[in-house]
Amino acid sequence: MSILVTGGAGYIGSHTLIALIEAGFEPIVVDNLCNSKKESLKRVEKITGKKIKFYENDVRDAKAMDKIFSKNNIDSVIHFAGLKAVGESVQKPMEYYDNNLTSTFVLIDAMKKHNVKKIVFSSSATVYGASETVPLKEGMPTGATNPYGRTKLFIEEILRDLYVSDNSWSITLLRYFNPIGAHISGTIGEDPKGIPNNLMPYISQVAVGKLEKLHVFGDDYNTADGTGVRDYIHVVDLAAGHVKAVQWVLGNEGCEEINLGTGNGTSVLELKNAFEKASGKDVPFVIDPRRPGDLGEVYADASKAKELLGWEAKLNIERMCEDSWRWQKNNPNGYDK
Ligand code: NAD
Ligand code: UFG
Repeated sequence: MSILVTGGAGYIGSHTLIALIEAGFEPIVVDNLCNSKKESLKRVEKITGKKIKFYENDVRDAKAMDKIFSKNNIDSVIHFAGLKAVGESVQKPMEYYDNNLTSTFVLIDAMKKHNVKKIVFSSSATVYGASETVPLKEGMPTGATNPYGRTKLFIEEILRDLYVSDNSWSITLLRYFNPIGAHISGTIGEDPKGIPNNLMPYISQVAVGKLEKLHVFGDDYNTADGTGVRDYIHVVDLAAGHVKAVQWVLGNEGCEEINLGTGNGTSVLELKNAFEKASGKDVPFVIDPRRPGDLGEVYADASKAKELLGWEAKLNIERMCEDSWRWQKNNPNGYDK
């Protein structure tokens, strides 16, 4: 079965390609490489021994999308393509609305035209907005605090409306918590542009000597050690969740929002300590003020994914750190040689 993977050259997409191939699916990638490199696909080919069909196109390009659907017998779509930097979305809201929403409109149009009604969408735990209640469960109120988050919230609403208008669609809205880690080969991983905004790539760049020290954003939260707590999930577990979601949309009709997290919280200092242990490197740090907009504690109730998809995360924080470090150590400049 053929699965169109938009944004398949990116961090989560590239790991999902491997899981799809291992499960016997044929992934077809469309990506404009605005935040990724073709090299990631080459490395996936090396890991899997399979050639990947790749279209270097913008998902907003309706003609290109129509052609992709005409030329391939696509059974289902995983829609990763999107811009994802929270801070940048505040600076460039129109770019975020255009890229994330227009790509979804164009994609859905092409899917309708070619009678493909099965889609797995990359949402985010950010749709729970500023909720202080943990664990976060799917039925809880949603909200958004920045344009990036609003694009996810709007797309969720749009896809729900689509399902209401035509019950033969099958849709999963996957709300990821904090993906980290890398494939065990150490040949693919997260390759952020410039100085990383997220904790794990920042820690690993300190450990490899590219950055001087970690800035811990606040130690006065109402958590065990005062630093922010998140639900870190290994990207390989996340990829396995996508295979389960694809299997679900192929076999069911409906529209379901589903958390993909571990259900466990880890603080900034706990993650730093685990990383030091896994890498054998020191990660010097300073305590800075809180980052505006950050919450103290965010973690999932992961029970729906288990009940509906038969999926749960398996890999622990130690493995996440070991695998992130292997990728960072072997590729200090990411996909750039
Ligand atoms: P990524 O930037 O590595 O991957 C996204 C891919 O989409 C990139 O390869 C990029 O080139 C491509 N892309 C973007 N706009 C495109 C367009 N208009 N046409 C074609 N390709 C386009 O990001 P990721 O971390 O792999 O995230 C994948 C998805 O998961 C995104 O939608 C993101 O918002 C969502 N998500 C990510 C996280 C996270 O922490 N990584 C958390 C929650 C949700
Ligand atoms: N942190 C630091 N120093 C850093 C970076 C982060 O102390 O240099 C702290 C943050 O304050 C937070 C934790 O580490 O407590 C995790 O921060 P990240 O930036 O890695 O992740 P967030 O949970 O803030 O954000 C992530 C995604 C967003 C998404 C959000 C909500 O990056 O896209 O989860 O789900 F919107």
